[in-house]
Amino acid sequence: MKLNQSLFLSFMTVFQWTVHVGSEDTPTLGSRNIPRLLSQDVIKGTFSYPVHQNHTILFYHEDSGEIYVGGTDFVYKLDLDRYQISEEIHLNATREEPCFEVPCKNVITVIEKFGDSLFVCGTNGLRPHCWKLSADETKEQEGTGISPFTHTQNSLYLRVEGDLYAAAPLDYDGSALQFRREEGRRANVWMYDTWVSEPTFVSAAWVKRQNDPDNEKIYIFFREKNSDQNPEADPWISQVARVCKTDEGGSKRFFQNTWTSFLKARLVCGFPEESLYFNRLQDVYVQNAEDWRDTRVYALFTSSWNATAVCIYSIQTIEDIFNNSTFKGYDKAVPEPRPGTCVRNSRALPLATIRVVRDYPEMSDWVHSVHYTAPFYVSNNNYTKIVVDRVQAADQRMYSVLLLATDSGKIHKVLESGSEPFIISQTQIPSQSNLQSMKLDSQKKKLVVSFAEKIYVVDLQSCNESNKSCADCVLARDPYCSWTKSGCSPTVPDGIQNIVDGKTSVCAASTSDYNTVNRTRRNAASRLDIDSTQLAVPMDVPFYLSCPIDSYHAVYTWRHRDERSPCLQMSSSCLLLIPAMTPDSYGSYECISEERDYVNMVKQYHLTEREDRRAKANRGKASAVAAQTLGITVGLALFLN
Ligand SMILES: *[C@@H]1O[C@H](CO)[C@@H](O)[C@H](O)[C@H]1NC(C)=O
Ligand SMILES: *[C@@H]1O[C@H](CO)[C@@H](O)[C@H](O)[C@H]1NC(C)=O
Ligand SMILES: *[C@@H]1O[C@H](CO)[C@@H](O)[C@H](O)[C@H]1NC(C)=O
Ligand SMILES: *[C@@H]1O[C@H](CO)[C@@H](O)[C@H](O)[C@H]1NC(C)=O
Ligand SMILES: *[C@@H]1O[C@H](CO)[C@@H](O)[C@H](O)[C@H]1NC(C)=O
Ligand SMILES: *[C@@H]1O[C@H](CO)[C@@H](O)[C@H](O)[C@H]1NC(C)=O
Ligand SMILES: *[C@@H]1O[C@H](CO)[C@@H](O)[C@H](O)[C@H]1NC(C)=O
Repeated sequence: MKLNQSLFLSFMTVFQWTVHVGSEDTPTLGSRNIPRLLSQDVIKGTFSYPVHQNHTILFYHEDSGEIYVGGTDFVYKLDLDRYQISEEIHLNATREEPCFEVPCKNVITVIEKFGDSLFVCGTNGLRPHCWKLSADETKEQEGTGISPFTHTQNSLYLRVEGDLYAAAPLDYDGSALQFRREEGRRANVWMYDTWVSEPTFVSAAWVKRQNDPDNEKIYIFFREKNSDQNPEADPWISQVARVCKTDEGGSKRFFQNTWTSFLKARLVCGFPEESLYFNRLQDVYVQNAEDWRDTRVYALFTSSWNATAVCIYSIQTIEDIFNNSTFKGYDKAVPEPRPGTCVRNSRALPLATIRVVRDYPEMSDWVHSVHYTAPFYVSNNNYTKIVVDRVQAADQRMYSVLLLATDSGKIHKVLESGSEPFIISQTQIPSQSNLQSMKLDSQKKKLVVSFAEKIYVVDLQSCNESNKSCADCVLARDPYCSWTKSGCSPTVPDGIQNIVDGKTSVCAASTSDYNTVNRTRRNAASRLDIDSTQLAVPMDVPFYLSCPIDSYHAVYTWRHRDERSPCLQMSSSCLLLIPAMTPDSYGSYECISEERDYVNMVKQYHLTEREDRRAKANRGKASAVAAQTLGITVGLALFLN
């Protein structure tokens, strides 16, 4: 008995150690905010680069569905149906003199489409340069202010109708970073120097207004130095700024070629009641809607304590702030037209209006998220990229699915379920390098992710992981998947699904012959043979049973006689430890999972006594069998000693 006790203790030590080591990337049962599933078979194609890339960008052209990647000295067009490179464009640095200490390379930083021509810019050996490539000619131009000098400098760009808006440093050392309109039909317009302080531009978006194009605005999301010098204050804060599309700058005499409609407001994400904020904007995805008021901004933030959060903003709320808030630091009468109002001819704006824009562009009111009191989602994962898809479910309703990625290539698929996140799954991209770019092809339902050595294409409609039963498919709450005659497969209008609450009663409600027959057969099978294992185990030996974890949101319990024991998680298995076999230990064991309204017997064992006089030898043997099933070689080694 004493021996067994000590064996059990060493058992526990081994397991705790193993649990710790093995759980690095496995969700922990019972915690909140964890992925329900680990998805394995989701990578449907890859493209390899000839040499490792220090920097790559992806460009998705929504109108044509074309996708391009730009790296060092090249642009490739990708074919996501055949997983091939369908076009290769080589653009070496045109600079002739040597590039000092750095290699004279052309790292592509801008890819856009204007009509039929492809507009590409790159660092061009520290001499930013652009190429306009069309079927019959190539035009070249200087690219300072559009492309950065090196790929490590901050930059962004946005096409609006025939115009290009961009932020990139004007100086070689990365300074004089400006958000400007650079190219196209409308006048080039710049920012006023004092409007931002050490900014990092994160994203820019154009929000269309079908019946009011003159009121359309360009929104710019960025973080900058906090003007609040209080040592308690975060040195960085995040802002949303906007300019009118029709803004052509002031008159020749005042504010020529400078935005006359620039206003900014603080973007707040956190717990306002506790004054706890995520201040550092990391990435933004703007989800456009038919009615501009329904446009939503999904913003990913980090904090000084290394947690990340997603906050969701409505463009309507942002507009209300810009339209109604007082101007920070300005207490006189607000001139007419109100500063920031979009007008047909900005050159004719009264000086009083422009002066307020020049000197007090910041709103006193802050922009709060739609959930106000808390972020939509808070996580310990260091996400760096976000995209959001709109998916039509079997109930014909549209659901938003967030795709969040970390630098190491961990991707979480998160359902926006009312005000609650539901983490459908986790996918690990098997890459050795850091994530460089991520784009969504919402039509093909594919996610394209780029790393230093390869591009991976993830199939968002991969439903195979939930193909065990109708309940399995419904519990997944994945709008991309529903239960049909051919199992869990990409959503069709008459598929069985329950995105709203994941309850599996919808499976019983379906009366199609296939499902009824199939369910009966499945239940019978799981009770009698498929997952039932007979094992002969000698008396006195320690033993353990294991059961696979299919859902990290389920509660797993072992049942033996009238006893229920909790499960001990080791990676993706659920264990039951038997310190030493006693007469009571024999009989049947069931591993039961419970999730929402669904109770399932996952695994069943029958332990019978093995008569054997040479208990000592067999103690090792029996444990070896068990240990092998579990793959715990460390535990085994400890045992045999
Ligand atoms: C990546 O950067 C290193 C160091 O600057 C350089 O030697 C290498 O040539 C670069 N790779 C490419 C593809 O430009
Ligand atoms: C957060 O991460 C940074 C580097 O990424 C590190 O320097 C800092 O110590 C971390 N802070 C905490 C509270 O873990
Ligand atoms: C703020 O502005 C919006 C228009 O953008 C208006 O509909 C709303 O009534 C205003 N709210 C307040 C509190 O004045
Ligand atoms: C802005 O708000 C004012 C009231 O504060 C309202 O009269 C005006 O119509 C609003 N403008 C827009 C564009 O909604
Ligand atoms: C996030 O980053 C911080 C600091 O860089 C690190 O301490 C922490 O373990 C990371 N979290 C995860 C889940 O990787
Ligand atoms: C799901 O299972 C069914 C049989 O139960 C099979 O016909 C189908 O091919 C499976 N689907 C996938 C994606 O593996
Ligand atoms: C479907 O998943 C099973 C395991 O759940 C796997 O064995 C099988 O290869 C997968 N099939 C496809 C087509 O991905």
